[in-house]
Amino acid sequence: MEFKPSIELKVSGVCELSKAGPSGVVIFGASGDLAGKKLIPSFFNLVNLGSVPGNFFILGVGRTVLDDDSFRAKVRLAVFAAGERNESLINNFCSKCFYAHGDYADPTAYKSIGDRLGALEKTFSTAGNRVFILAIPPTLYKTVVSNLGKSGLMEKGRIEGPFHRLMVEKPFGRDLESAKDLNNEILKYIDDTQVYRVDHYLGKNTVQNILVFRFANAIFEPVWNNEYVDHVQITVAEAAGVENRAGYFEEAGMIRDMLQNHILQLVSLVAMERPRTLDSEEIRDSKKDVINSIRPFDLDKIYENILRGQYKEGFIGARKVPAYTSEPGVGEKSCTETFFAVKLSVDNKKWKGVPFYVRSGKRMSKKYSAITVVFKPVKDHIFSDAGTDPQPNALTFYLQPQQGVSIKFMAKVPGSKMCLSPLDMDFNYKDKFGSDIADDYGTIILDCMLGDQTLFWRKDGVEASWKLLTPVLHKWESCSLNEKNRMLHFYAAGTNGPKESDEFIRKDGREWI
Ligand code: BG6
Repeated sequence: MEFKPSIELKVSGVCELSKAGPSGVVIFGASGDLAGKKLIPSFFNLVNLGSVPGNFFILGVGRTVLDDDSFRAKVRLAVFAAGERNESLINNFCSKCFYAHGDYADPTAYKSIGDRLGALEKTFSTAGNRVFILAIPPTLYKTVVSNLGKSGLMEKGRIEGPFHRLMVEKPFGRDLESAKDLNNEILKYIDDTQVYRVDHYLGKNTVQNILVFRFANAIFEPVWNNEYVDHVQITVAEAAGVENRAGYFEEAGMIRDMLQNHILQLVSLVAMERPRTLDSEEIRDSKKDVINSIRPFDLDKIYENILRGQYKEGFIGARKVPAYTSEPGVGEKSCTETFFAVKLSVDNKKWKGVPFYVRSGKRMSKKYSAITVVFKPVKDHIFSDAGTDPQPNALTFYLQPQQGVSIKFMAKVPGSKMCLSPLDMDFNYKDKFGSDIADDYGTIILDCMLGDQTLFWRKDGVEASWKLLTPVLHKWESCSLNEKNRMLHFYAAGTNGPKESDEFIRKDGREWI
């Protein structure tokens, strides 16, 4: 089956990356993990793709004492680790990187950051446009934001040029109360239209494609409802374990780390009503409505709808890997979940009665993320003598690492007899368009620099997601260690999660795909 894109994807065509205007970017936590692994390589790509203009600089801020040269050495390493070897591109990028050391809690530090920022703005003619990025531990968010506000470095109401914008990394709070508290604190110093709450899943091309697939094609939307859809399955699996993030993960667990943010975004993209336009507010209204429509969990029967798992030792390919509780920084009695399976009910007219089964875990057999919409079987079909009954159609969005869409449908097997067989019709991004132009972080960074909030969480959406999950999280936290142990299901690393997760969906007469 041959699918041909009807437009050529050219570097200078309609699909070209947009170009940001002049801006100075201040990264708090510039010598940390997130900056090194994600932000710096993404900025490097954007500079080299020409999406960021010459009037651009990065001012890294951190508690580590560094000068510009030693920061540039870190930048070099980060870009090298991301696979870049071109010295002249690296040198050019480094010439735009600077560093200011400071204690985040010390108001006087913001005076020297401000002096440095002002001087760089003159040198690079960035017209006073500022993007502040918080790549620091969330416990420091309020401190930095209030100091940015009080020092006047970040001003409320600066929406258009010279603009001041704030990019806040996840996790945004750890329950409803803390998320509200953080929102209230941030909104004292800056308007919501200036706040960019990051969810890097929204920067993924395959995730954005859900919207296009649904609303730019006439043939799917009429059947995208409970009359035709039996259920939806979402799997977000990783082969990686907790790595060096035990400090964070022990506090978070998989439900906070993945369900509250990335996965609820996926659910809302699948279930949202068509927004009137592509306006960021309308899209975010539609998505928030989905989250608000998810039926709250019945806390007395919580374990019927949420299953928690934790990995034991096992093998990823041929490599033996330790149990979660033997990972560095994890306590041997830890009951933190590294896997969950959950059943969500979107209680609105369109989706009532259509369960959304979601599972996500670390140290599963491979990295694999996909959404499958499983349709109801054909009613009163006429093929009872054909050997095989028609199987339900299924539409799968492959998010990563494979990127594409696949539709399962029935076809006639060649031959004189009327025999049926299920077939898959596949579209693969890489085959048709080459590799992605921008990485997920690159896309969201660029959108923030362009002032487009579509791919970012809005205050009400974040609060809606915490409102749904907070009772569940608090209930779990109130359990004794014994109770938690009883309710935690173990799985060997390198498998598809606890065997109980199969039973979890099977009791409804369905199977994981
Ligand atoms: C992050 C989580 O937000 O997303 C990580 O904190 C997780 O635990 C990561 O590994 C997954 O992102 P991706 O893009 O690799 O699927």
